[in-house]
Amino acid sequence: MAEISLFEALRTCRTVRRLRPDPVPDELLRKILTAATWAPSGGNRQPWRFLVVRDAERKRQLRELYLPLWRTFSQAYTAHLSGLPAEARARQERMVGSADHLAEHFHEAPVIVVVCVHIPELAITDAGLDRPSVVGGASIYPAVQNLILACRAVGLGAALTTLLCQKEPEVRALLDIPVGWATCAHLALGFPEGAGHGPVRRKPVERVAFLDRWEQPLFPVS
Ligand SMILES: Cc1cc2nc3c(=O)[nH]c(=O)nc-3n(C[C@H](O)[C@H](O)[C@H](O)COP(=O)(O)O)c2cc1C
Repeated sequence: MAEISLFEALRTCRTVRRLRPDPVPDELLRKILTAATWAPSGGNRQPWRFLVVRDAERKRQLRELYLPLWRTFSQAYTAHLSGLPAEARARQERMVGSADHLAEHFHEAPVIVVVCVHIPELAITDAGLDRPSVVGGASIYPAVQNLILACRAVGLGAALTTLLCQKEPEVRALLDIPVGWATCAHLALGFPEGAGHGPVRRKPVERVAFLDRWEQPLFPVS
């Protein structure tokens, strides 16, 4: 497969929820997981483990845990779509339809990667603030994103969920994850059924980048 540039990978790295059952070769897994390990982390502690689940029964149990979580989430999510303009609603409904497919077929993904982080190694510099802490994630989610981008580069699709983290005790028991290690992402990986990737839809940079003070545009809004 022809290499793509980093910027092209970033521009076209979409969530791929329809995956073929074809196995993911070990050498590809090694390549994408190695890319994940190139991520930065606080103090370069590299507090990660990547638990690759290929066993059919364990994947089925992960699906049993995920499906009800997704159904509850998507019910609440779709309840808010009625107020949207028709085009935006149709887009959201397509996304939910594709996410329904992922949830129903989660166990059919050839690989599910459970990304785990070692809590004692995290430097959580915002732990004392009067709001939910977010900084701990900064030492693990760059590795998750490296993994997703590496999938894009080698022609694999990836779909990330953090909903399953709610079932951490069950996942811990299922996969023998030791105490002290937290689950932070579950990724279904495989070759895309169709084209898979394509241009991402995001807010324009003009709306999200500021200069010197909040909401002062860095770039002119055209
Ligand atoms: C933290 C996080 C959690 C997500 N959870 C789910 C999920 O449970 N199910 C799902 O189908 N997609 C999930 N996604 C994928 C997002 O829906 C997707 O990234 C977003 O809609 C943008 O679409 P794109 O990635 O195709 O550009 C999640 C993404 C992130 C970053």
